[in-house]
Amino acid sequence: MARIPLAIIGSGGMGTRHMFGLAELEKAGLNPFDLVAVCDIDQTRADLLADAARDALGRRPAVCADIEGVLRAGAQAVDITTVPRFHHTVAADAIGLGLDVMVEKPVGLTIAAAHALQDALRGSDRILSVAENFRRDPTNRLVKSLIEEGVLGEPRYFHQSSSGGRDLMAISVWRHLKDESGILFDAGTHYTDMMEYYLGPVASVYAQMRLFEQVRYNPAATGGAPASDPGGVYGQFQAAMPAEFTATADDALFALVNFESGAVGQYTENRAGHGRSEWARTVHGSAGAVDIPKDRSGEPLVVTLEGSRTFTGAEILPLVPGFQLDDATAALFGGERATAYGLDFETVDRLLLAVEYAEFGACIASRSRPEVGFDEGMRAIAVCYAMMESGAAGGAIVKVDDVLGGAVREYQRSIDIAIGTSA
Ligand SMILES: NC(=O)c1ccc[n+]([C@@H]2O[C@H](COP(=O)([O-])OP(=O)(O)OC[C@H]3O[C@@H](n4cnc5c(N)ncnc54)[C@H](O)[C@@H]3O)[C@@H](O)[C@H]2O)c1
Repeated sequence: MARIPLAIIGSGGMGTRHMFGLAELEKAGLNPFDLVAVCDIDQTRADLLADAARDALGRRPAVCADIEGVLRAGAQAVDITTVPRFHHTVAADAIGLGLDVMVEKPVGLTIAAAHALQDALRGSDRILSVAENFRRDPTNRLVKSLIEEGVLGEPRYFHQSSSGGRDLMAISVWRHLKDESGILFDAGTHYTDMMEYYLGPVASVYAQMRLFEQVRYNPAATGGAPASDPGGVYGQFQAAMPAEFTATADDALFALVNFESGAVGQYTENRAGHGRSEWARTVHGSAGAVDIPKDRSGEPLVVTLEGSRTFTGAEILPLVPGFQLDDATAALFGGERATAYGLDFETVDRLLLAVEYAEFGACIASRSRPEVGFDEGMRAIAVCYAMMESGAAGGAIVKVDDVLGGAVREYQRSIDIAIGTSA
């Protein structure tokens, strides 16, 4: 079958990581795409990505500055990895031009931005896939099986607590600017997707939110090692970023989460933690609990059932006879009941991005709906904003439906003004 001509729009860190994911798919003989173009408003970045693509895929794609250039290069599908504030406009333009779209999370920087994209999708037969990778980690697929197969009993309690980061820059400046996303929204949309993936829809939330570190520092600007560099691709950009800057986005969120099922969640995302870094995620049910490692860490799950019987690593597989990965994940991770155990971050990262591309290609070929489409992407941002709206309002209980419908949007109002969207 002819390959689908593809362009990556946004040649920064994630655009580069996506290209490495595509290269993994190519190596596995499963790549349905031909990377014909890379695009960025910053030509230096697009050139760097084109060079890296030549080395990884064997052919240098065209370098473009906008979607018209991408069209001229022959693309029929685009993968949007720009900064979040342009996701909805670039995706809407692409849909309008008849292109199939995969867009990084978040599907929109605000609910109003996502609604603008929804308007563009109305009546269109184009594919829109949201590149949400965490749930595709075989370890998270295994958690889902443990829940679905009733190993944990009735799910009652979700707990996630993460702390660290001090006063250092998290990857990039925009992750500390409210009008550009901020870290709580950037990371939070992954975690709200995980909450709903595991335990179903969230009904309402209550939260406290803080901006603890008003000034952030970037050691890479003064010749130090990058403070955070997932995938090993950001260091080259961080050297040119300011050594010190003022943060406008909150950096700590403490929430109670009320699921429609009656389960309850507790969520802490403290990106200003000092001294002791922490990560914990567990799901507790009426028959047992599972300790879940950080996504893409390759660390094993630990299941604890009645009588303190614990199961870890491959010991878990007999508990879930129905656990079976999709074809692409099975091929890339080494079997239909494979796990990511023992793999390093970079490898898991690339393989998961390869899985996303495999699904996007299959959806284009069969004109079918992706696992994470607009609706799932929208819910992830709505649950995240429900927590942030609650926190900004000093702890009001916020219903996710009110955020989805636009009745609660005070926190997002200044962002909508900055990016030119309205409710
Ligand atoms: N799924 C994940 O695990 C994951 C990880 C990191 C980032 N992300 C997401 O990927 C996106 C990009 O993040 P990043 O870390 O690569 O940021 P980045 O700042 O490194 O790269 C963004 C790139 O977009 C370019 N850009 C901005 N506006 C553009 C436009 N209108 N057209 C073309 N290019 C444009 C910038 O010049 C920059 O090169 C974000 O939405 C982020 O949330 C997802």
